[in-house]
Amino acid sequence: MRKNIIIANWKMYKTREEALDFIYSVSQAVPSKDLVESVVCAPAIMLRDLVKRQGDNVRIGAENMYYEEEGAFTGEISPKMLTSTNVEFVILGHSERRMIFKEDDALINKKVLSALEHGLKPILCCGETLTEMEEGKVEEVLTKQLTEGLKSVKKEDLTKIVIGYEPVWAIGTGKSATAEIAQSRCKFCRDVIAGLFGAEAEKIRIVYGGSVKPENIADFLKQPDVDGGLIGSASLNPQKYLAMVEAGIQK
Ligand code: 13P
Repeated sequence: MRKNIIIANWKMYKTREEALDFIYSVSQAVPSKDLVESVVCAPAIMLRDLVKRQGDNVRIGAENMYYEEEGAFTGEISPKMLTSTNVEFVILGHSERRMIFKEDDALINKKVLSALEHGLKPILCCGETLTEMEEGKVEEVLTKQLTEGLKSVKKEDLTKIVIGYEPVWAIGTGKSATAEIAQSRCKFCRDVIAGLFGAEAEKIRIVYGGSVKPENIADFLKQPDVDGGLIGSASLNPQKYLAMVEAGIQK
């Protein structure tokens, strides 16, 4: 059985003090990692502070990285820098990186391969925009993002990756996908991955993101191909985050 994974993506929110308040509130309160996996992805400047206080059951992740180990790349963060802070995960290819910072699938693929090479677990995001959905291109978009994003990944590394299916029209809009849409898209992603990696696709975790909150997360988690949530605004509040992690415990 795939263990649910509940991932906070703080985006560009919280000061250092607010980040510390959050981790002090949740680190001892989250359920055991044997029951549900709990990850907090935060701005790079806060990662060390969070790792130091993560406790036994919370794991920390970055929100982005560059693929080179080091070099003249002003403002970028390398995989070596991330591993030296002991973070475990890194979000790659988030739609905000794709749209605002013009990241394409080829660049995202380099980041995925580099993260794996350095022992980091990539959370690879995919998802269609509203226009793409209206034009009937959902399957084409997801197939391209997954096929190019996972290019040259070794079969034995596949399950280190978590796929985040996030329809862009549901992010930060309060308009989440229905549980049925989330299920059918996550299943489609799994089928694409099965086409690339065979039976290993049954083991990879695929999470849904887009206006997930304590009130609706249970509906998503009931779906057979949804293995967790990738949560933006509702994850900023420690009580809401804890409620969503609790909902991830499989009964
Ligand atoms: P919201 O939960 O704020 O819609 O954000 C989703 C998201 O982008 C998580 O990566």
